Amino acid sequence: MKAVRLDKFLADAGIGTRSEVKKFVYWNRVKVNGKIVKDPGMKIEPDTDEVTYKDEPVRRAEEFVYYLLHKPAGCVSATEDKLHKTVLDYVPKTRKGLFPVGRLDKDTEGLLLITNDGALAHELLAPGKHVEKTYYALVEGRVTQEDILSVREGLDIGEKKNTLPACLEILSAALTENGWQSEIHITICEGKYHQVKRMMEALGKRVLYLKRLSMGGLTLPESLEKGQYQKLSREEAMTLLFTDGKA
Ligand code: URA
Repeated sequence: MKAVRLDKFLADAGIGTRSEVKKFVYWNRVKVNGKIVKDPGMKIEPDTDEVTYKDEPVRRAEEFVYYLLHKPAGCVSATEDKLHKTVLDYVPKTRKGLFPVGRLDKDTEGLLLITNDGALAHELLAPGKHVEKTYYALVEGRVTQEDILSVREGLDIGEKKNTLPACLEILSAALTENGWQSEIHITICEGKYHQVKRMMEALGKRVLYLKRLSMGGLTLPESLEKGQYQKLSREEAMTLLFTDGKA
């Protein structure tokens, strides 16, 4: 890691704001390699220099953070929006450059990874990388065995090519007072705009409710309430890239 300013290192490590940590340096609370320093702008080598605050070692802040958010309906998968809450409003803003990996519609709930790790997003978008995403959906209409076969073969949703083979599972199909309704699990390995809704439309059905349950090797924990997040280690976040061959 390259040399950084001492005040930035301390602020990134959560010791205080940039102006607070400057004061801490002036108040002789900060040592580098055992010696009190007076210059908050001093360059330090985070890999080799030992920095202490009130004689306690200061641990270097992780470069990348990963939050698994249970996205609620009503917020947009963007970094800023003038009209609506964004998914970033649900995680701590301890890092610059946080963004959601992929998108969920405003009315879709469920698993969304938020990170500042651009390389991870880049890898996900690499040609030929088909990360599986499984959704639960409540659908207006009666989902049938033929629909399972059609989804497996690929559907025309108005794109140049049909959708890639996907896996549809019928959980229930019942005639209610509002007509037929079906509950399904659907696993797709693409991320076209409104893909699940458009696939159901291609089958003559309408999605009433949609929730993402998993993405790659990451699953939404049942205990995580809507609007809550869980911090992940880098290793845990990397399981996003794994795929289990369901679709
Ligand atoms: N498919 C959709 O139609 N919407 C989403 O939010 C995600 C997948």
